[in-house]
Amino acid sequence: MHIDHIGIAVDDLEKAVETYEKLLDGECYKREVVDNQKVETAFFETGQSKVELLGATSPDSVIAKYVAKKGEGMHHVAFEVDDIHAELKRLCEEGFTVLSDEPSRGADNKLVAFVHPKDNHGVLVELCQSVEE
Ligand code: CO
Repeated sequence: MHIDHIGIAVDDLEKAVETYEKLLDGECYKREVVDNQKVETAFFETGQSKVELLGATSPDSVIAKYVAKKGEGMHHVAFEVDDIHAELKRLCEEGFTVLSDEPSRGADNKLVAFVHPKDNHGVLVELCQSVEE
C-alpha cells in the first residue's frame, strides 16, 4: 500500500492550479470532472505520489460544504490498494466506518471508497484501485 495522492479542497480551482503550478514548478497534467461527486479535479505529479486539487462544481457538492465549514485545505489521503473490495471488507471487519459498501468511480481511472475520519484520527482516508479505461 502506498500513498497515491493527497486531496486538497480548494475554493477556486483555476487559482489553485496556478498556485500549485508555481509551488511544484510543474504543469497540471490532468483535469477531470467527477459528476457523481460534483467535483472537478486537477492533478500534479510529485514523485511517486500525486496532488489532487478538488473544486466544487455545484453548491451542494461535498467539497463546497467542506470549504464552507472548514475552509480550504487538506481533504483526504489516498492509498492505492490492489483489491479495493477485499480492503473494504477487511476494514469493515476491523470496525472502521466505510462511507459506502461498494466503491464508486473516481477520477484518474480509479475505483474509490472512503473511510470516515473519526476512525483515522481526523483524516479522511480514500482507498483507490486503478482500473482499465
Ligand atoms: Co482523491
